[in-house]
Amino acid sequence: MASPEPPALELRSLTAGYGARKVLNGLDLHVQPGELVAVVGHNGAGKTTALRVAAGLKTPSEGSTFQSGRDLRGMSASARARGGLGLVPEGVAGLFPTLTVRENLDAVQVYAEAKDPDGWAHVEAEMRALFATVLEDRSGQVAGSMSGGQRQMLAIALALTRRPSVLLLDEPSTGLGPAIVGTIFKVLETLVASTSTAVVLVEQNLADALKVAHRVVVVQSGRAVATFPRDNFPPATELWKYF
Ligand SMILES: Nc1ncnc2c1ncn2[C@@H]1O[C@H](COP(=O)(O)OP(=O)(O)O)[C@@H](O)[C@H]1O
Ligand SMILES: [Mg+2]
Repeated sequence: MASPEPPALELRSLTAGYGARKVLNGLDLHVQPGELVAVVGHNGAGKTTALRVAAGLKTPSEGSTFQSGRDLRGMSASARARGGLGLVPEGVAGLFPTLTVRENLDAVQVYAEAKDPDGWAHVEAEMRALFATVLEDRSGQVAGSMSGGQRQMLAIALALTRRPSVLLLDEPSTGLGPAIVGTIFKVLETLVASTSTAVVLVEQNLADALKVAHRVVVVQSGRAVATFPRDNFPPATELWKYF
């Protein structure tokens, strides 16, 4: 029998903290190619810390991160980014605020080698159509002067231009109106439907996250305490008991 495909990304028994304070307490999390996993949990549960460990921005005290079965221990954040790990950090930090939209896109264009031309052409077309106000109408505007929603779209467009094999998003809907959240999540849906990109979506917005996720993982005090497949999602109100 063929061995199952290794996860695109796997966090295995991660322990990490700040000073004496332990924040991750043996966290396990995995995402398969083409899968969208929503990670939810209370404030301070360790979700952002987990993404930072995965991206190589923080070193765990125990455990490791595996990408397609390969242990990333000791690999720098920039090497992980070049290797296909894309992080859209919280608070729309993933762009150059003093450059225009066009200049931001040009800056990452160098990474845009087609790895999966057909699938990516589809994602790009949809992203352009849905993000038109940012990518085209505002191409000459300085990125830092745009609204939160426009900056979030640009940050996601920049991450996608690098054609990641794993995309990590840290609360992309925070502070945004429902129409913009719908637009952003539609792009994520197309991404996983038409490429083998794996997506880890950390979200507080349970209702919208449940609409697009294939699986939901609940994190509580630095540990994954429950996981639900799409055909068995509890109502958002039921998930709140973990918060
Ligand atoms: N740089 C830091 N220094 C000290 N404590 C931190 C730092 N970043 C996060 N923490 C603490 O770690 C805990 C987990 O934070 P975080 O991973 O951001 O959780 P979440 O994203 O789930 O809200 C919180 O109590 C937070 O205050
Ligand atoms: Mg966070």
